Amino acid sequence: MFLYQKTLQFPVRVDSTNPALAELILEQLGGADGEMSAGMRYLTQRYYMPLPEARALLTDIGTEELSHWEMIATIVWKLVEHATDEQIKNTPYVQHYVNHGRNPFPHNAAGVPFTASYFNAKSDPIADLHEDMAAEQKARATYEHLIRMSNDHGVNQALSFLREREIVHFQRFGEMLDRVQDYMYSKHRKHDYDFDYNRIRSEQDRYKKY
Ligand SMILES: [Fe+2]
Repeated sequence: MFLYQKTLQFPVRVDSTNPALAELILEQLGGADGEMSAGMRYLTQRYYMPLPEARALLTDIGTEELSHWEMIATIVWKLVEHATDEQIKNTPYVQHYVNHGRNPFPHNAAGVPFTASYFNAKSDPIADLHEDMAAEQKARATYEHLIRMSNDHGVNQALSFLREREIVHFQRFGEMLDRVQDYMYSKHRKHDYDFDYNRIRSEQDRYKKY
């Protein structure tokens, strides 16, 4: 169950009207490494995690990503809310405008609509947690690219907050990967899985020397 709190996780201040910047920031609304992709990834992967704390972590971070999606949508909205037709014309945002008006709609900076093929759930906790760690680093890199392209101080404060959260999530997923691997390789694990993890462990040990 989700409970909605009527505040943003971090206050969003936007100092300019800037449709071109809005179009770039849509990358994090509906792009491959954006917030919708992250939220959907973790909230679907959590079911197969072998430890309750791993399921809880994916639930917590997946939910937080939805609140980040809300922050991104708010930034995009505020950047175009008061834009005149003249300010919209001759910017890349005009293509978004003819289809969606000023509504933030999940597509990437090039206008490609969001697709679930941006993430996966493999029923393999090791594969999934590695995907999650890579996704956090890619999201961090995207925020850094966006901050370099933006001259709006308020927008950059919100983007810097979101960038920092990606680093925290990467750390948490890394710690959980260690715990999940320890559990799956231990004799005490309570479940059977679709893969033989003891075989994976012995193969990993074998390849350590190469
Ligand atoms: Fe994240």
